[in-house]
Amino acid sequence: MLVEGKPTRTIWLGDNGHTVEIIDQTRLPHEYIIVGLENLDDAARAIFDMLVRGAPLIGATAAYGMALAMREDATDAGLDNAYRVLYATRPTAVNLRWALDDLKAILSPLRADERQAAAYRRAVEIADEDVEICSSLGEHGRAIIEKIWTDKGKPERINILTHCNAGWLATVDWGTALAPIYKAHDAGIPVHVWVDETRPRNQGASLTCWELGQHGVPHTLIVDNVGGHLMQHGQVDMVITGTDRTTAAGDVCNKIGTYLKALAAADNNVPFYVGLPGPTIDWTIKDGVRDVPIEERDPGEVTRLPGLTDDGRIETVTISPKGSPAANYAFDVTPARLVTGLITERGVAEASEKGLAKLYPERA
Ligand code: MRU
Repeated sequence: MLVEGKPTRTIWLGDNGHTVEIIDQTRLPHEYIIVGLENLDDAARAIFDMLVRGAPLIGATAAYGMALAMREDATDAGLDNAYRVLYATRPTAVNLRWALDDLKAILSPLRADERQAAAYRRAVEIADEDVEICSSLGEHGRAIIEKIWTDKGKPERINILTHCNAGWLATVDWGTALAPIYKAHDAGIPVHVWVDETRPRNQGASLTCWELGQHGVPHTLIVDNVGGHLMQHGQVDMVITGTDRTTAAGDVCNKIGTYLKALAAADNNVPFYVGLPGPTIDWTIKDGVRDVPIEERDPGEVTRLPGLTDDGRIETVTISPKGSPAANYAFDVTPARLVTGLITERGVAEASEKGLAKLYPERA
């Protein structure tokens, strides 16, 4: 998508052919900084510290991380170590495991001296595939937006609510929840996006608003608890979110707070869609509430907030009394029964075992 009018991806190979370059998302929207990853440790830290985040981008970074690791140690021990270090970075987004398994299956049978080149080749391929998947998912989602808009008599604006950041910054390009929105906007459909700020890390406020603004998509930032009120007053035509892991039965794990939006949507007959690339489906589990590991992060993210001061400095302030404990659950699970449809690169699936199996017969 566009940054200052220039087509940009979130991760790419540097000119020297081995450094992996990323946008440091912890600095957005106030600073746009490119960081070079040189080794396994850099890649693991970039994921753990959330310089890169979003399920598909975590997967792509892990793939590049394996390639960087193969430059350092391409023995079997080096391969196992890279898998272990990267796998430990973040527990919920299943794209991480998917990418690591993929790379390990390709690299294991090769000789050590063949592994580095093969790992880079596959990492580049995974990144390119992600762009294709998200673009195609975007087309299917655009058709849904267009239908809702047309069925409502083509009003002056169609209001879509989204949570967290599931835009191009969360993928390699296009995004999942936002890909349909970009495609609809580009096709002349008058979309307007309600952006949940998404506490505690505020990915909606800092990332979604930034990327929608860069692409010229009309949007309004709201605090996390506004969605239900807007839905009661007919101000939301549909909800689209992303997902970090969707079970084979269609339960959707996504950023904390997604479940409450789905409940409010169901209560107000607002369609609730999820943008879902194939690699985000965990075919090994069905019951999301019971089986998806939910990341618990540093409580300091709840008690402290970074922001820009009026004189242009980035500062962090504390918002709660010293000594009050805080809990920081990063994700929750929306049961399949609350999901109107799963928008995938292969079309729109009913959120059920049958629905997903129909689109991915080879996996079911
Ligand atoms: O903690 P984050 O910022 O990695 O969480 C991201 C999300 O919850 C996204 O909605 C999800 O990864 C889908 S991204 C296309």
